[in-house]
Amino acid sequence: MDVSICLSEHSQIPWYEQLYRYIRTEIESGRISSGTKLPSIRSLADSLRISKTTAETAYQQLLAEGYIESRPRRGYFTMPVETSLAPHDAVGSPVETTSGQSAPTIDIDFHPSRIDSKNFPFALWKSLFNELLNQRDCRMLDYGAVEGEWGLRRELAKYLHYSRGVRCGPEQIVIGNGIQYCIGVIRTLLNEYPMVAAMENPGYHRVRAILEHSGVPIRPIRLDHDGLDIDQLCETDANIVYVTPSHQFPKGMVMPYYKRMLLLRWAQAVNGFIIEDDYDSEFRYGERPIPSLQGLDQRDSVIYIGTFSKAFTPAIRMNYMVLPPPLLARFKSMSQGFDCPVSRIQQNVMEMFITRGFWDRHIRRFRRIYRGKHQDMLHALRMIMEDHVVVSGIGAGLHVALLVRTILTERDLTERAARVGVRIYTGNDTRIGPSNDLPYVYLGFGALERTEMEEGLRRLKNVWFDD
Ligand SMILES: Cc1ncc(COP(=O)(O)O)c(C=O)c1O
Repeated sequence: MDVSICLSEHSQIPWYEQLYRYIRTEIESGRISSGTKLPSIRSLADSLRISKTTAETAYQQLLAEGYIESRPRRGYFTMPVETSLAPHDAVGSPVETTSGQSAPTIDIDFHPSRIDSKNFPFALWKSLFNELLNQRDCRMLDYGAVEGEWGLRRELAKYLHYSRGVRCGPEQIVIGNGIQYCIGVIRTLLNEYPMVAAMENPGYHRVRAILEHSGVPIRPIRLDHDGLDIDQLCETDANIVYVTPSHQFPKGMVMPYYKRMLLLRWAQAVNGFIIEDDYDSEFRYGERPIPSLQGLDQRDSVIYIGTFSKAFTPAIRMNYMVLPPPLLARFKSMSQGFDCPVSRIQQNVMEMFITRGFWDRHIRRFRRIYRGKHQDMLHALRMIMEDHVVVSGIGAGLHVALLVRTILTERDLTERAARVGVRIYTGNDTRIGPSNDLPYVYLGFGALERTEMEEGLRRLKNVWFDD
């Protein structure tokens, strides 16, 4: 196929991004169907009269976000839109397969980030909102503090201390609207520091995308059975590392204490920083959690990031980071350059929710709900999938990882699943480079009832193994 786009020389948007956005929109709208071979980097560069680096950067971005895949010696191919881990995927949307046939509507979605919305405390949240608005406090209608509301930050400092061993004062906490915002702020704070970022491979694709987007070179680091391979990290020129030590995303292992100490020693040796993403540690179903890296750090080298997306809802778009003192000083000196992206009304409602004890109750309640769903999922996998899959990454969070014993590719598995109305997520979304492993599938269970999990797994078994 040809890519016919007229790149604007007068736009502020760089060419690679114009190209990336154009192809992405074509894929999302279905104008380029899944499985289409894209032009090679060289021919795209020639036909558009751009450099190969520009074309390659656009493709890398599409790869990172799961819109295309690279097949060894064959080139770049578009992926079915439903396999991307885009957060805005909606259940109930029709899907098109590579054969061009319309597949059934997706009615069972194993997205790892979906939560149990049936049990969401709608009435309570609404009443706190009403209560705040009824106070008619006019200050609430002004701009808030750049770092976020003081009361919420104070409550978070206490919560993080007793739940995760994080040691910080409220002044170190910055409220944001998601991890991509926080990474953007960190990038700005370190703008005089030639940043080279290491990350787990496979790892969280949305962090990789934002780092790549801001021009940070990435060094993918393989995983051992217990998390990041520190020896490989030490061989790189990275000076910042992004990790999910308490529940590796997506594979699910927990980084043991000795490895956390090695990682902290690495940061000290290279005078670097560790970004600790502690996204779902509220939900552990087995052994006691290991304290956060931040709590073990003696040298101010950890930037801790947490979120309300798993424990409450991603729709609230609220998260937080804890800056070590050197970066806090920098944040203060650059504060004109930032603006808190979260509504102060919403932040104040959350403060009320925490101060009045509803937050702890909410976590206890949801831990019970998710523990039940986690057991249901493991039971259903044992009964339905038997030894067709090897399950890992269990004991925490809202998803499990499956190694699938099959000769099918991840792409085949996804397509077959879509044919029977099931949406799954594969290693392809999170991996940098090719894999020699059997295919990996990640199944979220947070939003599903037991009967839906069982029905979904039965359909998968039929289309994956019984053909
Ligand atoms: C690994 C990981 N980190 C962080 C988050 C939360 O991101 P955010 O706070 O931007 O919603 C998620 C959500 O799914 C995640 O999977």
